[in-house]
Amino acid sequence: MTNAQQVTSEILSIEPVGSYYHVVFSAPSIAEFVEPGHFVAVAVGGVGSAMLLRRAFSIHRATPGHSIEVIFAAHGQGTEWLSTTRRGDLIDIVAPLGTPFALPNQPIGAVLVAGGYGAAPMGMLAQALRERGCEVEVILGAATETKLFGVLDLARDADSVTVTTDDGSSGLRGRVTDALPNAIERINAKVVYACGPMAMLKAVARVASEHGAFSQCAVEESMACGIGVCMTCVLPVIGDDGVTRMVRSCVEGPVFRGDRVRWDDVHTVPSDVFGAPVVGGH
Ligand SMILES: Cc1cc2nc3c(=O)[nH]c(=O)nc-3n(C[C@H](O)[C@H](O)[C@H](O)COP(=O)(O)OP(=O)(O)OC[C@H]3O[C@@H](n4cnc5c(N)ncnc54)[C@H](O)[C@@H]3O)c2cc1C
Ligand code: FES
Repeated sequence: MTNAQQVTSEILSIEPVGSYYHVVFSAPSIAEFVEPGHFVAVAVGGVGSAMLLRRAFSIHRATPGHSIEVIFAAHGQGTEWLSTTRRGDLIDIVAPLGTPFALPNQPIGAVLVAGGYGAAPMGMLAQALRERGCEVEVILGAATETKLFGVLDLARDADSVTVTTDDGSSGLRGRVTDALPNAIERINAKVVYACGPMAMLKAVARVASEHGAFSQCAVEESMACGIGVCMTCVLPVIGDDGVTRMVRSCVEGPVFRGDRVRWDDVHTVPSDVFGAPVVGGH
């Protein structure tokens, strides 16, 4: 969180894109520090609002000296409010936050997997990987065509894009994980990057491991503070020493190694976690 700044940002534009909204925040002092996988915490509701908690969004794009961009779905009180903002409105934001995707030192094959608005950070990531000489395949999935995001942009940023939809309205009918084994094998991928719903991340991490690839998963846990002080966002993660700890996804994450997250135990405190209360103890 070293370079995170809290600024009053002007909305430079906000417009609907498919099922989502695309918002551009002025952020001249922030943008240069953004790496793929960072997020921004946005104060919602305006001055005097009862909505005390900021809302977290992946940073979609950053233009150094100018702006950062976000893609969001309006579904609850805070995001509905954000969708009613207009160009010129002033909003309090904190960014860049979190631990971004780790980038390889070698020019290896990488598969990027995203569900719905999980595609938001993938363009920046694909560009960063290709600058390192990596071959990049993208798999984008959604329940239905209108919930896909970024297909055309990613076709430009990556070497190839495969689309899947649950209902077959676009691309292959099925899940992103149906297309993943072939993509890994086609480019002999050593790493799979993923952003989307938890169930998708769990499945991607499993398929990646089965095919000998590392996975880096950007999780979306509820975050109350976004800066590491409230412990709302913890999940059980296995450390290098083999010990499971409850780890803050806003600081140590949101990107974690997929084989280290105890996906079946998310939203619980497993009994073997470091520091867990001893049942029947005093
Ligand atoms: C790292 C990260 C990246 C994200 N990226 C995107 C993105 O790119 N696009 C997008 O559309 N969405 C993204 N989200 C999800 C987005 O943050 C939520 O959709 C948004 O917070 C919903 O706000 P709301 O007011 O509309 O919904 P509501 O459901 O009305 O409110 C959600 C609020 O309640 C808080 N909350 C929920 N459960 C708890 C709890 N148990 N304890 C404490 N607080 C709780 C949340 O932190 C949030 O502030 C991301 C989330 C994270 C964590
Ligand atoms: S959201 Fe408060 S510690 Fe992570």
